[in-house]
Amino acid sequence: MATDEIRFAERLFGFGRVTGFEVKQKALALEAQGIEVVHLEVGEPDFPTPPNIINAAKSALDAGQTHYAPSAGLPVLREAVAEHIAGKYRTTVRPSEVVIAPGAKPLIFFSFQALVNPGELVLIPEINFPAYEAAAMIVGARIETYPLLAEKGFRPDTDWLTDKAAEDQIRMLVINSPHNPTGGMFAQEDYKRIAELAEMHGFWVLSDEVYSSITYDEPHVSTLHFPELKPRLIMVDGWSKTFAMTGWRVGFGIVPEQLAKKLATLTTNSNSCTCTFNQYGALEAIKNPESWRAVEQMRQEFIRRSEYLIPALREIDCVKVGEPKGTFYAFADMSSLPMTSKEINDRLLEEAHIAALHGTAFGEAGEGYVRFSFANSLVNLRSFIDRLTAWVEKYCTECG
Ligand SMILES: Cc1ncc(COP(=O)(O)O)c(C=O)c1O
Repeated sequence: MATDEIRFAERLFGFGRVTGFEVKQKALALEAQGIEVVHLEVGEPDFPTPPNIINAAKSALDAGQTHYAPSAGLPVLREAVAEHIAGKYRTTVRPSEVVIAPGAKPLIFFSFQALVNPGELVLIPEINFPAYEAAAMIVGARIETYPLLAEKGFRPDTDWLTDKAAEDQIRMLVINSPHNPTGGMFAQEDYKRIAELAEMHGFWVLSDEVYSSITYDEPHVSTLHFPELKPRLIMVDGWSKTFAMTGWRVGFGIVPEQLAKKLATLTTNSNSCTCTFNQYGALEAIKNPESWRAVEQMRQEFIRRSEYLIPALREIDCVKVGEPKGTFYAFADMSSLPMTSKEINDRLLEEAHIAALHGTAFGEAGEGYVRFSFANSLVNLRSFIDRLTAWVEKYCTECG
């Protein structure tokens, strides 16, 4: 007997694109058949969490830190984040402007809930991390994308933003630098223009800076370097990528105090708080220089991998790729192959046993691209290059 179709709420129509998690499930099914897959699909550092952080969380457990914490986070952690961020970006941050959450993602989600009414205009990059669109969609926002300039390393088209701000009423602009999936970074002048526009037109800027610690030649520029942005700024970052703590679920936001209170109320009424003993791990991560040494080691390893991977990809016909400035993603243009990026991705998995993520998982503008996450060992990256070279050869002849 056929099961009745569930009538889901309309707000879920079109909600949720394919993510690395789904590709990973397919890859795991292949592995269950004894096939060895190279995993370049999911966006998380492949390193273990530094041991001092693990020990701090274990000690917190032993000390009985197993109860609810305040919704906005442990005061001691909010203070530590405020102090750390103020020092890092040479600005002032009060603990009351810090909100701790189970990752950066809930802060993105809750910020939309707190600030955006149905029909209000939200601008997201045309190639984007899917959580922005999902969070905007669920509040019924009018969503438009703004162009990223591939020839300028996927920096935003600030002339387009200037025109848009003049002709339409923007409620929230989402920016993400270093950028998933392209590895691009905004330039100082991009931030300046965005700060001017936000001040002039009074819109909110949600800045996702979760890759702030994984940059290569140039240091990360934060929105917090621009004090004029602060009254309308939601800056999100966290422990996931920086300290290889994706599964711990700890992130933070720097927001105006009034908004911090609303985010805390949303937390109270949904997930209550961030896991208490994990917050002690997060505190250790920030406070102990040993953790920062581990962060630097991970960054150096990503640099080594990038230095191998990018030239190796460029050797392959039909593959074009720019130099990532941050993150651990290579965003390869494979548009000269005679298939869509989704087909490329499916065939890479089925025929070459390479798990990657097609560019259209990040929006239609990602057509022609495939994202390869180099959160994997050099040995595996070499195997990937061998497999990709052999696979592309089969189809490059077709594309002439
Ligand atoms: C751009 C971007 N923002 C946010 C996140 C999620 O971060 P968190 O684990 O802190 O929720 C990711 C994870 O892939 C990401 O790529």
